Amino acid sequence: FQVKPPVNEPIKGYMPGSPECVALKAELERQLANPVEVPLIIDGKEIRTETKAKMICPHDHQQVLGEYYIAGEKELLMAINAAEAAREQWENMPWEHRATIFLKAADLLTGKYRAKLSAACMLGQSKNPYQSEIDVICEMADFLRFNGHFIQEIYKQQPLSTDGVWNRVEYRALDGFVAAITPFNFTSIGGNLPTAPAMCGNTVLWKPSSTAVLSNYYFMQILIEAGLPAGVINFVPCRGVDFGKVVVPHPKMAGFHFTGSTGVFNDIWNQVGQNINNYVTYPRLVGETGGKDFIFAHESADVEALTCAIVLGAFEYQGQKCSAASRAYIPESLWGKVKGRLEEEIGKIKMGDVRDFTNLMNAVIDQKSFKNIKNYLDYARESKDAEIIIGGGCDDSVGYFVEPTVILAKTPTFKTMVEEIFGPVMTIYVYPNDKLEETLKACDTATSYALTGAVFAQDRTAIIKLAKALDHAAGNFYINDKPTGAVVGQQPFGGSRGSGTNDKAGSAINLYRWMNQRAIKETL
Ligand code: SER
Repeated sequence: FQVKPPVNEPIKGYMPGSPECVALKAELERQLANPVEVPLIIDGKEIRTETKAKMICPHDHQQVLGEYYIAGEKELLMAINAAEAAREQWENMPWEHRATIFLKAADLLTGKYRAKLSAACMLGQSKNPYQSEIDVICEMADFLRFNGHFIQEIYKQQPLSTDGVWNRVEYRALDGFVAAITPFNFTSIGGNLPTAPAMCGNTVLWKPSSTAVLSNYYFMQILIEAGLPAGVINFVPCRGVDFGKVVVPHPKMAGFHFTGSTGVFNDIWNQVGQNINNYVTYPRLVGETGGKDFIFAHESADVEALTCAIVLGAFEYQGQKCSAASRAYIPESLWGKVKGRLEEEIGKIKMGDVRDFTNLMNAVIDQKSFKNIKNYLDYARESKDAEIIIGGGCDDSVGYFVEPTVILAKTPTFKTMVEEIFGPVMTIYVYPNDKLEETLKACDTATSYALTGAVFAQDRTAIIKLAKALDHAAGNFYINDKPTGAVVGQQPFGGSRGSGTNDKAGSAINLYRWMNQRAIKETL
């Protein structure tokens, strides 16, 4: 058995009248007309609890997509027991059989479930069809297929044997279960965080984001249809506080695969520290957290490429990507032209319901996020140190809509220039051309994050200088391109400092974290 060398799943265009467009539009209407009920899945069984919550459309908050059940402490303990019971058989299943399940899931989701998954992601997380396609279809399939390939390559690696000695390494699963907490903004991350450890023989408790339950549940159903045995991945939407109480301190918790806020990851890390004497093994903590991602332009930058990167990098998916560009440093000599082009291009952006495929932007995820973004905009509006030069409007009467907004800051340490907002807000600092070094330093030190960043220059010496000055400021660094849209197998994704442990999602490095090697020396 050989895992086929993977190829990135091609992105469909959803042009008007195309078969994929017709199928997706019909599926959107079908899901809107048929609210669903989402159970927990523990040990392969559907479980319904006393507590339920509604799933709504962020761009039309009166529209209910259905309800999901919430796990309490009792169900979380059941899920731990199920994961522990399934572990031995799953770990000992030949890896080719494990991989086959995930490869089949990739084919199911890019095939017969393409429209269903994409529609759920669009409606539940307010994505346009293109953003949904690259997330829940292409990136999700890429994670599954590339991880299958990486694991095959890892398992082939064996140490040297010498005369009379046979050395070998067994790549086993961790000594306990893995906990996965996944975010709302990428269903593909929702899929990757439980499946990457499972591919390596681990069993998992998966807590999806409460604002992305539907698309994650449909992915879970695909895994089951592809043949995932009971108990290997247990789907347990629940309150963070219960997960923190029951799962994090559990003695058999052997790994944590997390994407979300820096604050929550720090809480998990602290709690693990407090319980360190209770674990069977040191838990592996792998996290991808916040970002305050930059675009830094040199005076030799191409204005068109720079404008395009600011607009797409900051406003696609309403800026709700951990990679989204949210601060830019522009030299004075270019600012007049850049400002004019930004006004033109941002003026063309359409925003609204996901069913109108001509909308580039839709709504932000929920009321809490809307209020948080609005507070930042109010702060900027009232400050003497900044000016909102484009957008700034917010309206939550129908959905949680925030206009694409550009703030001009007088200092590189202005609040919106250094704090993560997670919305369609770009703050720009215009620097004097002769203050390049100071501004590079400000870019490097202004925040505690180091996730993504982009530099724009046509002068090769300047590219080298900028790349060197910002060498630890971003785990994913782009030259003359926007800092979003990493592709599995092409740009392994992750950052350091306050942005995470940089165990690159969609890479062999990430898979090593879920393996517990036994090195065997046999004397012949
Ligand atoms: N991987 C995504 C990107 O690069 C963010 O999660 O935009």
